[in-house]
Amino acid sequence: MRVKALVLCAGRGSRLRPLTHTRAKAALPVAGRPMWQHVFDYLARFGFEEIGVVVGPGQQELSDAVQRWPRQRVHVILQAEPGGIAHAVATARPFLADEPFLLYLGDNLTDADITPAIRRFQAAAPAALLTLHRVPNPREFGVATLEGDRVVGVVEKPADPPSDLAVAGIYLFSPAVHAAIAGLRPSHRGELEITDAVARLLADGHLVLGHTLTGWWQDAGSAAGLLAANARLLASLPANIHPSAVLAEVAIEGPVQVGPGAELRRVRLKGPVVIGAGCRVTDSEIGPSTSVGDGAILAGVTVANSVLLPGCRLQGPALHLADSVVGAGAHVWARAGHPAALVVGDDAHLLIPQQRRQPRR
Ligand code: G1P
Repeated sequence: MRVKALVLCAGRGSRLRPLTHTRAKAALPVAGRPMWQHVFDYLARFGFEEIGVVVGPGQQELSDAVQRWPRQRVHVILQAEPGGIAHAVATARPFLADEPFLLYLGDNLTDADITPAIRRFQAAAPAALLTLHRVPNPREFGVATLEGDRVVGVVEKPADPPSDLAVAGIYLFSPAVHAAIAGLRPSHRGELEITDAVARLLADGHLVLGHTLTGWWQDAGSAAGLLAANARLLASLPANIHPSAVLAEVAIEGPVQVGPGAELRRVRLKGPVVIGAGCRVTDSEIGPSTSVGDGAILAGVTVANSVLLPGCRLQGPALHLADSVVGAGAHVWARAGHPAALVVGDDAHLLIPQQRRQPRR
């Protein structure tokens, strides 16, 4: 369909600090590729050929990277201040013009088929169509109330959720949304909320439809969410070992990708696992659900359900990590008999297993 897509990537990513102190959230890798590439591929699957990407100040690297993307036409739009989702849409107005568009919040990942939602939007011509997903924790999202497939109410992060239908971060809008946004005031978090714009459309008597996504959907904006999205995406990983990779005494279970020039010795890979280009892995057990960034060095470790960024270094003997995100160039090692010695980045979070003290004799 010849509709523009607007992908929002300007968020500060506060739930993913310290990783987002030095890079945009959308640039974080999931299943071996930056989050934004998964989003762009997803949009290509439904025929979105023209994408506006809203970035924030200091996200030059992301903005350069998206402009090198060959698959779709990409326009970068700068949101100079963190004014919220509806503010980002207003900022992108010159790109959007007076046409319908798809809005995609750049930290949401899904494999759901949105073809039925697009068809319904085109046939019924509502002011908006919200994709929804059932969640166990609706207090953390925008929440919709449905009558049939009509949205009759929407509320942002309610203390007392009217349903378990979270607003899933993919919306189809008619140009009517711009007038609704123009009338908004900042919310208590100081942002122009897209949920308030939808509520205004409803108050003005516009038709708003809901479409419940089938398949998985994940808000990847926190460490736990990033790991869950990583595991989801890895679950459909095609196996592929690059011919230039060196594998010596490597046992493989499940789907595994190994990048060019990687060297693995005495390693057990429990797929799904992605090992990036040029990694050195020795005497280790990696996986399941683990992505290792290019150039990482792993020696004497076990790592499960984790995302390791490029160039990090994990060193045993016997370093056991699970459910971890390790930053680029970070160095973690295990030293027997020593208290933990940490140089920890701002806003980092660590869970250190308590060592059982040896009973005194
Ligand atoms: C935003 C929206 C919320 C939606 C969520 C999906 O929340 O405001 O309605 O459910 O994305 O991820 P935020 O991530 O800005 O807190």
